[in-house]
Amino acid sequence: MPLITTDITLVANSLSKEEVAAIPTETVYGLAGNIYSEKAILGIFRIKQRPLFNPLIVHLPHASAMEDVAKDIPPMAKELASRFWPGPLTLLLPRKESVPDLITAGKPTVAVRVPNHPVILSLLAQLPFPLAAPSANPFGSISPTTAEHVANYFKDEFPFILDGGPCTSGIESTIIGFNDEGAIVYRYGSLAIEEIEKITGPLQEYIRDEETPDAPGMLLKHYAPATTTILSTNIEKSIKENIGKKIGLMVFSQSYKGKDIVVQEILSASGSMEEAASNLYAAMHRLDQQQLDIIIAERFPDKGLGRSINDRLQRATYC
Ligand code: TXA
Ligand code: MG
Repeated sequence: MPLITTDITLVANSLSKEEVAAIPTETVYGLAGNIYSEKAILGIFRIKQRPLFNPLIVHLPHASAMEDVAKDIPPMAKELASRFWPGPLTLLLPRKESVPDLITAGKPTVAVRVPNHPVILSLLAQLPFPLAAPSANPFGSISPTTAEHVANYFKDEFPFILDGGPCTSGIESTIIGFNDEGAIVYRYGSLAIEEIEKITGPLQEYIRDEETPDAPGMLLKHYAPATTTILSTNIEKSIKENIGKKIGLMVFSQSYKGKDIVVQEILSASGSMEEAASNLYAAMHRLDQQQLDIIIAERFPDKGLGRSINDRLQRATYC
């Protein structure tokens, strides 16, 4: 098992030796490496069993470092960066030639963000290179929001997991790209679309192409527990339809009764979408470890972070 540590310098030294390390961010834990090290980046793809056509997000210490990896940055992108960074917003920008093809999967754009977590910001400040970091889980499975989640996924493929505590936002960054008409949402995430639209105006919806997915976070099946999981708008009806099975419930704020309910995860008793988002993956991890026959997940109201939660639940339950 990789060693769980809070020693930032130890992990900085490991990354400087072209090794891979798991790192905390405010959204989910990432599996990080020097963007300019082919060894480290190939290591990330191998460890995650991630297809090479799936590009990585570049994590920067501050907004002005954008200029090191991107060029011709749209003014709207700069405005979003100055409003929301550090924070859970990833921008797709025209890449500089110096960014390796492995990072961008040969695309003309590079994905960048400044994460909002003191531990990774301090780590990035110690390093002379940015970090590529996909979520620290095997391809397609539930993203990790604690150091322990990461440790449970991997044996000894890399030496260190830098522990920054549980992630506060809990789902991945929102991904925004640009065209001549304005801004496009590629992935719903921890920053609500309504907040972004205050700056960009109405966002265009990215049209998915399953053959050559631009953002495989948009793959129909992703973020999935091993246990059969369904998405429900009527929990009581779904419980009745699954009588006799060992049921795990994952609900927004209200609890339910029923003899077949083995365990129940209430994501936010006070009805806060932010709290629910921060608890989502940890609840999915816990439910997935209980040998249940079925997980019934409650659909959220389709606004604010509820849209991002529903997006993840839809992909987790797709079959
Ligand atoms: O919150 C996050 O974004 C986390 C933390 C660790 O920062 N990272 C994360 O990385 O979610 P990952 O690799 O699991 O998801 C990155 C997504 C993928 O769906 C990838 O296809 C998309 O970003 N992506 C990266 N570069 C892209 C590009 N140039 N064009 C389109 N999509 C891109
Ligand atoms: Mg991921």
